[in-house]
Amino acid sequence: MIEVKNITKVFKKPIRKPGIIGMIKTLFSTKYETTTAVNNISFNINPGEIVGYIGSNGAGKSTTIKMMCGILTPSSGEILIDGLEPYNSKTRNKVVKNIGVVFGQRSQLWWDLPLIETFRLLKLIYEVPDEEWNERFEYFKEVLDIGKFLNSPARTLSLGQRMRADLAASLLHNPKVLFLDEPTIGLDVLVKEKILTAIKEINKKYNTTVILTTHDMNDIIELCKRIIIIDEGNILYDGPLKNIKNRFGDIRHIHISSKERINLEEFNKTFNNNLTFEKDENFLIISFDAGLVSINDIVNYIFQNCRVTDFKITENNIESVVKKIYEAKSV
Ligand SMILES: Nc1ncnc2c1ncn2[C@@H]1O[C@H](COP(=O)(O)OP(=O)(O)OP(=O)(O)O)[C@@H](O)[C@H]1O
Ligand SMILES: [Mg+2]
Repeated sequence: MIEVKNITKVFKKPIRKPGIIGMIKTLFSTKYETTTAVNNISFNINPGEIVGYIGSNGAGKSTTIKMMCGILTPSSGEILIDGLEPYNSKTRNKVVKNIGVVFGQRSQLWWDLPLIETFRLLKLIYEVPDEEWNERFEYFKEVLDIGKFLNSPARTLSLGQRMRADLAASLLHNPKVLFLDEPTIGLDVLVKEKILTAIKEINKKYNTTVILTTHDMNDIIELCKRIIIIDEGNILYDGPLKNIKNRFGDIRHIHISSKERINLEEFNKTFNNNLTFEKDENFLIISFDAGLVSINDIVNYIFQNCRVTDFKITENNIESVVKKIYEAKSV
């Protein structure tokens, strides 16, 4: 479905000179600095896969997505979506019908139009037959829960409503591939959950291929069997998510705040010294490998030994996983 072959993207920026005269000089300057945002990467994605494309800030994720949907042209290499190049003016129109895109950071809805009008326009642009459009529209109205604000202009929507509307807009023409660049950024837990469930359902119902970037490990765990990790434009890992989890342990962190002191030495001994402790302003953070220590036993121990006033469990975030893989590769 998607073939990415030896793609490189180099950005050229004129070197800025300070001050107003400098600004004018910059306009005529021939000196450039270059950034290699994506460095000779290759991968294939099969129909119906959901792939997490992850990495730290500035790793090259959005640049790759933009090339895959034809917004940017690669400096070298080739991308084929269903056999066609997305950035080639001859094939672009065909490719656009096969893809849907959501950029979490930027809406693609017509700002002043009631949502329903945006959807109708998209129907015309993509030439979706009535019957097909109606079926999909009713379905998205339900799974994305957008019925209540269909008559509101996009600019009046909350972030969570806007994101669900953007997702519907990107899918109404039944694209084979859906690109999601940080679709859950800034959303509360409930809306995130709604979006993740919808993506899962849509993938199942229409066999839509999904490529997703995110900084939220939970998105990846809920959606992706396969992940591709990119760092400074290079692919660090491409394979099953479970191998990464096995390789680096399934690390959890329990954050507690308590009015009483807890004897950490004794606590650690009870769990064969498999715990590490860290303190911040309000919380004691207990970290452990869920493969070695039962979460249930730890939670029981905590509640039996102190009066907890606040409590939460978190998993390793993407940045720490990427860091560990990077460190493992560089030794
Ligand atoms: N239009 C551009 N002109 C010049 N440099 C750019 C441009 N777009 C991106 N870059 C640079 O390319 C690199 C990769 O950027 P990219 O936006 O792909 O990162 P990202 O992985 O999406 O990061 P984030 O997680 O912060 O969204 C960065 O160093 C960025 O500054
Ligand atoms: Mg990005």
